[in-house]
Amino acid sequence: MKGFIFDLDGVLLSTDELHYQAWKRIADKVGIPFDRKDNDRLRGVSREASLEIILEKYDGQLSAAEKEDLCNEKNEYYKELLHTLNEDTIDPAVRDTLSFLRKEGYRLAVGSSSKNTKTILQRTKLADYFDAVSDGNNITKSKPDPEVFLKAAEYLFLKPEECFVVEDAEAGIDAAVAGGFCPIGIGPASRYRKTKFPIGKISELKEIAVKAEPQLQK
Ligand code: BG6
Ligand code: MG
Repeated sequence: MKGFIFDLDGVLLSTDELHYQAWKRIADKVGIPFDRKDNDRLRGVSREASLEIILEKYDGQLSAAEKEDLCNEKNEYYKELLHTLNEDTIDPAVRDTLSFLRKEGYRLAVGSSSKNTKTILQRTKLADYFDAVSDGNNITKSKPDPEVFLKAAEYLFLKPEECFVVEDAEAGIDAAVAGGFCPIGIGPASRYRKTKFPIGKISELKEIAVKAEPQLQK
């Protein structure tokens, strides 16, 4: 194994609550019931697909243009909330683990559905840990399609079978399996049957990395 591809939201930091607050404002405005349990279903799902899930509880009909407006409005709220993020938002164990993996010679990438990935990496000062970023801006199909991870592997000049994928969402694990990657699950994904290596905390990646006995180009 030569690389690690990290999902962003729910793995490197928790943005669930920010997504929830932004979607809640939209749901309240349209008059749709929406709670944190509903929000859990949006994990790993694209912005547009998230709106479709929220609209399952809506009686009326919305045009494509109205849906686009709601997605844009949600993103404006979400971007305001992203201003609350900074270096201290990141659990020190995340930085420690990323440094360790780099020192071991692994190539690291982010593979996220979020179109806000680069903003988040910059605000939290995580950008420099990664050799490549594949995100919602360079894909046409969202997870569970493997496109975002296949692009990440390509940017790292690695084959899928040489990379671990670290995910918190079932849709992300499905994407990793579909692309031929080795799936590591944290949080909800640690309880998913398709996850090969379930972990309780991110520092457990160090042990997995050492056991994978990489023949790395340092
Ligand atoms: C994923 C989140 O990382 O990104 C989803 O888990 C979110 O909840 C998706 O919908 C898209 O994010 P954004 O920032 O492009 O709206
Ligand atoms: Mg996630």
